[in-house]
Amino acid sequence: MNDLTKWYKEAIFYEIDPRTYFDSNGDGIGDLQGILQKLDYIKSLGTDCIWLLPIFSSPMKDGGYDIEDYYAIHPDLGTIEDLKELINAIHQRGMRLILDLVVNHTSDQCEWFQKGEADKDSPYHDYYVWSDSDEKYKDTRIIFLDTEKSNWAWSEKAQQYYWHRFFSSQPDLNYDNPAVREEMKMIMRFWLDMGIDGFRADAVPYLIEREGTNCENLPETHVYLKEMRQLIDAEYPDCILLAEANQWPRDLMPYLAKGDEFHMAFNFPVMPRIYKSVGVGDNSSLIETLKDTPGIPDDCQWCTFLRNHDELTVEMVTEEDRKLLWDIYAPEKRMHLNLGIRRRLAPLIGGDMHKVELLYAILFSLPGVSIIYYGDEIGMGDNIWLEDRDGVRTPMQWSNGAHAGFTIGNPKKLYRPVIDEGEYDFKKINVAQQIEEKGSFLNRLKALVHMRKAHPLFTSQGFTIVNAWQREVFAIQRSNDSETILCLHNLTDEQQTVALGKTTYNHLHASIDPMEQEIQYSSEVTLPPFSYLWLIRI
Ligand code: GLC
Ligand code: CA
Repeated sequence: MNDLTKWYKEAIFYEIDPRTYFDSNGDGIGDLQGILQKLDYIKSLGTDCIWLLPIFSSPMKDGGYDIEDYYAIHPDLGTIEDLKELINAIHQRGMRLILDLVVNHTSDQCEWFQKGEADKDSPYHDYYVWSDSDEKYKDTRIIFLDTEKSNWAWSEKAQQYYWHRFFSSQPDLNYDNPAVREEMKMIMRFWLDMGIDGFRADAVPYLIEREGTNCENLPETHVYLKEMRQLIDAEYPDCILLAEANQWPRDLMPYLAKGDEFHMAFNFPVMPRIYKSVGVGDNSSLIETLKDTPGIPDDCQWCTFLRNHDELTVEMVTEEDRKLLWDIYAPEKRMHLNLGIRRRLAPLIGGDMHKVELLYAILFSLPGVSIIYYGDEIGMGDNIWLEDRDGVRTPMQWSNGAHAGFTIGNPKKLYRPVIDEGEYDFKKINVAQQIEEKGSFLNRLKALVHMRKAHPLFTSQGFTIVNAWQREVFAIQRSNDSETILCLHNLTDEQQTVALGKTTYNHLHASIDPMEQEIQYSSEVTLPPFSYLWLIRI
């Protein structure tokens, strides 16, 4: 990397739930010191930047996305001193750290809400969005469909309704109030001053409400987000803002704007189309979405992903595709949540790790940088019997020892139960065993990550779709001044032959298979079912 301020453009991200990663003091809850002890492992995956799920004080009704005090760390996780130590240790290893910034709402336990609810004359009343009727902003969708009937909730104390886009225990902040705008900037400065490298900004499309709109992606919201960016540019130029905006491509682009809003955005549009492509053995909607996604400014970057701590969202797809994805990936009612699918990567793909590797290969072949969700690097399972999204947030399976090696103690209860039965039992799926085993999924994935990192062209924007008519294969070519790489992915359970034309290629990387013995390819190549082959032009 020649330009130090653009580190994020070539970074591999790793997402961690701090409460379920590693418990360093034996109380059954993962903590900051626990993460610190695992940094060498995290680094060995090829990680450049860690993203931690919310660590601030919270009643934990929404995994910490319901913040009580923005200036305090939740005591279960450790102290400010622990965070400083963690930041240092991360930086010493040449990695970065970003935290979650919950911009849109607080917890109803937050002092601001409590004061504002109790007293209409308090300056905190206007920190939130109140109304005497629940009839305003009727065109706004409800996101947590399974739990909420309305975006308004009645407050007995205030004798008014307050606005909330998520759980009713998460009142939305009022971004028409200059004091709120300033407060959030102070919060940013407080944590950035501690040395973190930026934020993953949560739920950014919903900051401002206007009658007659769907209250998402409003120009007024973008004005504030640009102010956040100005703060970063002026005061913390090496830090980044990563947008969580689950929107259609046309609505997502304004978050990157002219390179003057977010540095990065999660690529929500391509994610479900990757699942569709291997689900139906057809590349067309993935290609269509890639073509529909306009180029982004030079200093911006996509963050591509397969899974995260939430349900796999299928909101931004056609109704027909949504049904299709439900049919393929959520055959049981308990696997559904809101419009999404609350399962982890490996079980979604039927535990077929060969196929999971194919999904990663597709992901890594796309423009942008990628994020890996903790546990998915070893093919961890889920527990659909846990409520809400907890089933995809079970403790990291470190070893086949007690409690999957998640804790140093022997607590009566873990923060969440480990998976200890069936195919994904920690005795069968754990880090220790996969480090030892040469052809393990962990080692295969590491090799893929390192391959990608050895060829910076993957993180650039340009790409060419090859043989688009051959729908069974997703073939994407990436190139820069010095090399051209052709990535072939067989989306079907039958072997597929791909024409290579007059070009000759060397083998670069592939699924485990006999192809690896062959060195050069020309005219055509045959791919086994659900396999991939990356070639480099000579
Ligand atoms: C984001 C988070 C999700 C949370 C929601 C409300 O979508 O990823 O976990 O529930 O925001 O804060
Ligand atoms: Ca602990």
